[in-house]
Amino acid sequence: MEAIGSSQSCKQIDAQALAVAVFKDEKADGGLLKTLDEAVGGLISSVIQTEEFAGKAGETAYFHVSGSGLKARRLLLIGCGERDAYKAAQITQMGGTASRFLRGKNAKTIAIAPRADGEVEKIAQAVIVGAIMGLFEPDKYRTKDKENRELDRIAVVIEGADKKALQQGAERGRIIGEAVNFTRDLANEPGGFLTPTILAQRAQKVAKKFGLSIDVLDQRQMEKLGMGSLLGVSRGSDEPPKLIVMKYEPRKATRRKQNGLLALVGKGITFDSGGISLKPGENMELMKYDMTGAATVIGAMQAIAQLKPSIPVLGVAPCSENLPSGKATKPGDILTAMTGTTIEVINTDAEGRLVLADAIAYAKKLGATQIIDMATLTGAVSIALGDINTAILGTDQVLIDKVIGAGKEVGEKFWQLPLDNEYTNQIKSDIADIKNVGGKKAGTITAAAFLKEFAVDTSWAHLDIAGTAWGDTAQPYRSKGPTGVAVRTLVEFIESSARQNGN
Ligand code: BES
Ligand code: MN
Ligand code: ZN
Repeated sequence: MEAIGSSQSCKQIDAQALAVAVFKDEKADGGLLKTLDEAVGGLISSVIQTEEFAGKAGETAYFHVSGSGLKARRLLLIGCGERDAYKAAQITQMGGTASRFLRGKNAKTIAIAPRADGEVEKIAQAVIVGAIMGLFEPDKYRTKDKENRELDRIAVVIEGADKKALQQGAERGRIIGEAVNFTRDLANEPGGFLTPTILAQRAQKVAKKFGLSIDVLDQRQMEKLGMGSLLGVSRGSDEPPKLIVMKYEPRKATRRKQNGLLALVGKGITFDSGGISLKPGENMELMKYDMTGAATVIGAMQAIAQLKPSIPVLGVAPCSENLPSGKATKPGDILTAMTGTTIEVINTDAEGRLVLADAIAYAKKLGATQIIDMATLTGAVSIALGDINTAILGTDQVLIDKVIGAGKEVGEKFWQLPLDNEYTNQIKSDIADIKNVGGKKAGTITAAAFLKEFAVDTSWAHLDIAGTAWGDTAQPYRSKGPTGVAVRTLVEFIESSARQNGN
């Protein structure tokens, strides 16, 4: 699939279908909408007059317009809500609604007119990211009734805009959109197919294709490093654990003097049954997506390798299954992490923090001074924030604010939860240094308080994506299932850090 930017007029654009943004209560009495309305013999003003279409977010009106003044033979109006609230998130959704809807009508080449104000490159990027995300379907293993239609070309049209900026935005959008869908595809894979070994192979393929260095640590290497916390989780499983370590290095010519190293660390539990503290059966099948943090790291690294920012980035993903067996870690057992910290395991279902503990420590060993970890860590986060906001917590307010700001740029929402030192009291153990559960209260925060023990002496932020990484319902702009949340924000964060670094 090709993604291009076009500065042609919407009337002239060569595509089978044209999608145009329309705002709430907008009339076709000026500008592009008027031009188009005239070209199609008043169809747009008619559908507005009859109150069939009022431009509300997610609304659509679809026409066949052959024989009209439009080169495209089909026209789709997409409601985008209030014009004042039309920002990155809405522009991206508009792109998604356009591609999903028109694919459903068997269009192969589409043009999208976003009608947004602001930087052309950013607008083009947002549209293409959305359009590509809109095409993701979770039905990979269906053999019948499969949505297997594809688009050949998506064009963003902004009449008269700078061609280079348009093209660059479209290309960036393609890279990022494909990275997000790659993460979603991994998240959607069943645990039976995507074991830690296979996940590591997928990461190796990405590294080879896009030129990243990669190192996959096996069980023996982890034993040597003393990663008793991570290995305590994988003990119950026949599938061996893997620690994926990827690195992006900017080329020497573009590299600037760099203080410190950023690491992305992502939870990679390829299936979470809860272990001996077995989960109830209801919805357990969803626990295949408990490796979304790892998939987010790999997806973000894939995008970074192509976008080539001027700063190095480390990606670390501790991968394991969490299963019960005669060898499994039991509640009451004590694990010793790589740092020497002893952990009383109260509940084997609080395994994400156990694998992250050693992964964060390892990232530090490799020189990381700034760490962002992401994990489907707690059910409690969905109770607190639902599937709208990703929880963010950490020890460096400047870093947290930057991540939240990067999220705003690309249209992803984060909400900070507090992480006062007092919460650490809840994870003190009677017989070891800490325990892996902090009681009923503030579950998302005490999970973060656990990680904080291992992130000491770094600038650290933690994203709990358990609520936002999976969509229970389909939207006009995206399928249900894995959302690929945070990939876009992390890429934006890294690029903006690189820009601040002087490039
Ligand atoms: N992977 C789960 C968290 C989760 C729950 C993610 C629902 C997505 C949807 C995690 O490993 C877990 O089981 N957490 C426990 C922690 C508890 C035992 C302290 C939880 O949230 O119930
Ligand atoms: Mn669990
Ligand atoms: Zn889990």
